[in-house]
Amino acid sequence: MERGVMGSIRFDDRVAIVTGAGRGLGKAYALELGRRGAKVVVNDVGASTEGSGVDNGPADLVAREIISQGGSAIAHYGDITDIDQAKDMVNVAIAHFGGVHILINNAGITRDRMFVKKDLADFRKVIDVHLFGTVNVTHAVWPHFLAQNYGRILVTTSISGTLGSFGQADYSLAKAGMLGFMKTLALEGGRKDVHTNAISPAAATRMTENLLSEQDLLSLNPERVVPTAIFLVSDEAPNGCALQAGGNRVSHLVMAQNPETVFPDTATAEDVAASFHKIIDNGPLYQVRSPTSG
Ligand SMILES: NC(=O)c1ccc[n+]([C@@H]2O[C@H](COP(=O)([O-])OP(=O)(O)OC[C@H]3O[C@@H](n4cnc5c(N)ncnc54)[C@H](O)[C@@H]3O)[C@@H](O)[C@H]2O)c1
Repeated sequence: MERGVMGSIRFDDRVAIVTGAGRGLGKAYALELGRRGAKVVVNDVGASTEGSGVDNGPADLVAREIISQGGSAIAHYGDITDIDQAKDMVNVAIAHFGGVHILINNAGITRDRMFVKKDLADFRKVIDVHLFGTVNVTHAVWPHFLAQNYGRILVTTSISGTLGSFGQADYSLAKAGMLGFMKTLALEGGRKDVHTNAISPAAATRMTENLLSEQDLLSLNPERVVPTAIFLVSDEAPNGCALQAGGNRVSHLVMAQNPETVFPDTATAEDVAASFHKIIDNGPLYQVRSPTSG
C-alpha cells in the first residue's frame, strides 16, 4: 500500500450534511467529519430497514456524540423523500452554521423480494428513498454550491446496481441510477469546483446483517469505509469517480465500453448474432469518461 503524501484532510469552516446519519455508515461518516472539524447536520428520519416508522433518537444521539467529542452538530429528522423537508435540511445548515459545502447522500432502505412477488408500492418506495431522496437533497444544495464555487457531493451506489442482486430489482435500479446521476452532475458542476462522486460500500450494518456471512460481518466494519468516503468529499476529491470500499479493500468502479465492432450498412440481425462473440470480447477495456483528479 502506498502511504498518503498529502497533508492531513481537514474540514474546518466546512458544513456537511449527511443523510441517514443516525446509524450504520452514515453515523460513521458523520462522526469522522465532526472529528476532522466539519460542522455536521445529522439527518435521519429514524426509520426501520424497510423504511417505516420515525424516531428522533438516532439523529439526536449522533449529534450529541459529535458535540461531546468537541465538534459541532445539529440533528435533523427530515424525510429525504419530502421535497420541503429536504429543503429545510439545507436551510437549517445555513441558518445554524452559515453555509453548506458537503452533502453525503447516504440514507437508504430495502424491501427485498423476488421481482415476481414484488409489490409495486414497495418497489416505488425503495426508488423514492434512494433515487428521489438523493435528488431532492442534492437539488436543494446545488444552487448554493454553484453560487459559492465550491461543493462536494457523494452519492451512494451499490454492487447491486452494478452487478445485480437477487430480490433487489428496485434497489438495483436506484443504485445504478446513482451512477448516471453522479456522472452528469460531475460534468455540470466541475467548472465551479462542485465535485460529485459515488461510493459503493460494503459494511456490516443492520441492512446487511441477514445477507452477509458471519466471517464477512466481522471483517466489514463500517469504519473501514470511512477513509474512502472522507477522501471523496475532501478538497482533494476527484470529480465523477465511483469507488468501491469494504474491509481493507478499495477499487475503482468503471463504466466501460469495449472497442466497437464495425458492420456494413446492410448488417442484419443474423450478422449481429454471428459476430456476438467478437462484440463481447472486451480486449483491453477503456473508460468512457475518466474521473478528473481533484
Ligand atoms: N451496508 C452495506 O454493505 C451497503 C452496501 C451497499 C450500499 N449501501 C448503502 O449505504 C447506505 C447506508 O446503509 P447502511 O447499511 O448504513 O443502512 P442503515 O439501515 O444502517 O442506515 C440507513 C439510515 O437511513 C435512514 N433513513 C431511511 N430512510 C430515510 C429517509 N427517507 N430520510 C432520512 N433518513 C432515512 C434510516 O433511519 C437509517 O438510520 C444506504 O444507501 C445503503 O443502500 C450499504
